[in-house]
Amino acid sequence: MTRVLIEHASQIATPRGRSARRGSEMRQIQEIADGAIYIEDGIIKEVGPTDQVTAAVGDLQGVEVVDAAGHSIVPGFVDSHTHYIFGGYRPEEFLARLEGAGYLEIMKMGGGIQSTVNATKACSEQELYRLGLQRLDEMLAQGVTTMEGKSGYGLDLDCELKQLRAMQQTDRDHPVEVVPTYLGGHAVPPEYRGDPDGYVDFMIKEVLPQVKELGLATFCDVFCEDSVFSIEQSRRLLRAAQEMGFGLKMHADEIVSLGGAELAAELGAVSADHLLMASDPGIAKLAAAGTVATLLPSTAFCLAHPYAPGRKMIDAGCAVALASDYNPGSCFTNSIPLILALAGIHMHLSIEEVLTGATLNGAAAVGRADRIGSLEPGKQADFLLLRYPDYRFLVYHSGVNIVEQVYKKGRLVYGGRP
Ligand code: NIG
Ligand code: FE
Repeated sequence: MTRVLIEHASQIATPRGRSARRGSEMRQIQEIADGAIYIEDGIIKEVGPTDQVTAAVGDLQGVEVVDAAGHSIVPGFVDSHTHYIFGGYRPEEFLARLEGAGYLEIMKMGGGIQSTVNATKACSEQELYRLGLQRLDEMLAQGVTTMEGKSGYGLDLDCELKQLRAMQQTDRDHPVEVVPTYLGGHAVPPEYRGDPDGYVDFMIKEVLPQVKELGLATFCDVFCEDSVFSIEQSRRLLRAAQEMGFGLKMHADEIVSLGGAELAAELGAVSADHLLMASDPGIAKLAAAGTVATLLPSTAFCLAHPYAPGRKMIDAGCAVALASDYNPGSCFTNSIPLILALAGIHMHLSIEEVLTGATLNGAAAVGRADRIGSLEPGKQADFLLLRYPDYRFLVYHSGVNIVEQVYKKGRLVYGGRP
């Protein structure tokens, strides 16, 4: 048995629970001064003040002891919305947007997602895998211990499966735990131009059953958006996926207010993501349904769109998660410090809410809050040692990575000893 004791942390800060924290619960952070965590075989057994934990552990023979003095400790970040498996880049599109071109306008002209689809088709599975590992390394160095990843840059059967297999392989070979999502409903491919319903039929009949059979995705997602997939098409796809046993996610009300939040709540989706333009009734429905509102502040930042109303959502009783949306188009940044700063400074979330949003509620948004997202007995020992003695520096030291060490399942997987 592997036994590890982390002791004398200046502070341990963690949300608590095995499900999403909603509304005012998001502010409830347990703070332990001179804290310790005792771990057996990757699972947390004890968390508390060092004197209490060491008394509970008793004999320290065979226990690896780590002195965390001067550091604060928080749970590993759970980035619950990314598109990290892709080929090619789109700098010209980014520059065109800076000159005033709109995201949907570029997409309608055949650029946008379709240009990444072309580049991803041209990439071998091995190359996607190699890029995926590199990108997971970057996430790990910023404290991400679990990350969701979406397909959606293949659209046809072969390339969607290729993306999902590359993702599965990165999950096996990298310490970051990956949660796979099928996002065939990301754009209507040229083969189905003018026939989005035909493409929805194709996904339901030809793709989803194979993805299920091969065990390549936990969730099904759709880009429900003006001139992409309508509410009706999204409902049809997601209902079919739900019947096959997939959990549901949605790109909802990102650019145009379509009623995506309402649909996510109606279907009992695990999360509704983006929500920049979510209506007030939509927000109320998400709160009532317990669907996690996943906010992606760096996308709004990169698109220069107004931020999603995170403060209003929490005040309305929603569970808010914070994620990166890392992708080569709308949001080519995977900076976790940027997300935390934007959420705290521009979305007006409190530091406690930011921490809950980036950890436990992210875990809930990938259906794993029973196992990860907080530091409590019985949970997986995924946690971060920060360079400062107080976790509030995560927002205060704005835009700077203060993660010094990352532990996954009780094992040091990034950074040197303190
Ligand atoms: O979440 N909105 C749709 N999907 C991604 C963007 C993908 C892309 O531009 O390549 C998003 O923003
Ligand atoms: Fe996205």
